[in-house]
Amino acid sequence: MHIMDRPILVTGGAGFIGSNFIVDQCKGEDAQLVNLDKLTYAGNLGNLAKVRAKPGYRFIEGDICDADLLARVFAEVRPRAVVHFAAESHVDRSIRAPDQFVLTNAVGTATLLQASQRYWDTLDSAFKSFFRFLHVSTDEVYGALRPGEPPFDEASPYDPRSPYSASKAASDHFARAWYETYGLPVVVTNCSNNYGPYQLPEKLIPLAILTALRGDKIPIYGDGQQIRDWLHVEDHCRALALVLRAGRVGETYNIGGEAERKNLDVAKCICLILDDIEPLPSGLNRADCIEFVRDRPGHDQRYAVNVSKIRTELGWRPIESFETGLRKTIHWYIRNVDWIESVRTGAYRKWVATHYEGAVQ
Ligand code: NAD
Ligand code: DAU
Repeated sequence: MHIMDRPILVTGGAGFIGSNFIVDQCKGEDAQLVNLDKLTYAGNLGNLAKVRAKPGYRFIEGDICDADLLARVFAEVRPRAVVHFAAESHVDRSIRAPDQFVLTNAVGTATLLQASQRYWDTLDSAFKSFFRFLHVSTDEVYGALRPGEPPFDEASPYDPRSPYSASKAASDHFARAWYETYGLPVVVTNCSNNYGPYQLPEKLIPLAILTALRGDKIPIYGDGQQIRDWLHVEDHCRALALVLRAGRVGETYNIGGEAERKNLDVAKCICLILDDIEPLPSGLNRADCIEFVRDRPGHDQRYAVNVSKIRTELGWRPIESFETGLRKTIHWYIRNVDWIESVRTGAYRKWVATHYEGAVQ
């Protein structure tokens, strides 16, 4: 079989970004993808309904911390690339229960790198140089920016503040260590905040959309002045496909939307769009439902990334602006009632219940 016909092994493909990546990749007629996912609270095979029956798609339930399983998967699948999304991804959860973040993000990534390298060592030289390990990471590893400071670039020092970002920083260091020490063809990406279809409503944008739709209170941490740089998930997935195809081995690429917004402004923007397309029967403005709640401990003030490198080297730029992407996303959540019901019965309810405990007036 030709190398290009070998599958891509995707980890964490039942999560938010991974499932968007798989659905996008499966648009290609000859796409071959194997999705290895533990199906934690964040894994939802419903995200992959569109591709489930495709002959080139296969799901394997499993944990990236399980070295024996990984050895079997690599021997059987013989992938041409690994795209590594699997992680614990939610900062608030990492503050409450950091252990699983250390395990999955740090130990799991190292275990996956080791299995990849052992497999890679067995390949012939043509296949070896073709193989890629794409490590999907976050801008949070760089720490927090003050207002006015230039955005993070690829040379910014690591300065993670939360258990989540520390565990992702560890995973980035492991990925580079496997490149430097063993020659595994690793490429690392560090992306800003994503939003779009299939994101669990534990994260700000889907939580604000779903609570605002019902006319419920929208929880904003602290004073809502913290800034995030928002990127539509499909633009992130296009960037990843490009890095996989043309990124230079051993390099890091920052990915972001150049769309810095204060959290309070994001919530207000969602309220305005919803008031326009689905006015509340009471006639109230949804922005009046914004409620300031207890701040996140160690809340990073601002993230923003400089995307010059991926733009000049690989020609990537986002298709969606924040305004077009947000409107599309709101329409998606309005249309996909079944998906929302399926998550509402799980972690989402618990999350909202605990959220309101900390409310400050
Ligand atoms: P997510 O929480 O929605 O999905 C994570 C997926 O990984 C789930 O399907 C889960 O079941 C799976 N998983 C968790 N532990 C596993 C394990 N031990 N073995 C196998 N599978 C496991 O996360 P996401 O938001 O889609 O993020 C995906 C990746 O992108 C993460 O590495 C995250 O750090 C990174 N990232 C996310 C964002 C963002 O805004 N969401 C931005 C930049 C980078
Ligand atoms: O920057 C990339 C990171 O973005 C990813 O690596 C993470 O996986 C992803 O979860 C995201 O992290 P954040 O902590 O920035 O995302 P979250 O949606 O949880 O929060 C966004 C901002 O909104 C943050 O400043 C906290 C605030 N917030 C969040 C929630 C859930 C609120 O004000 N209220 C809320 O209810």
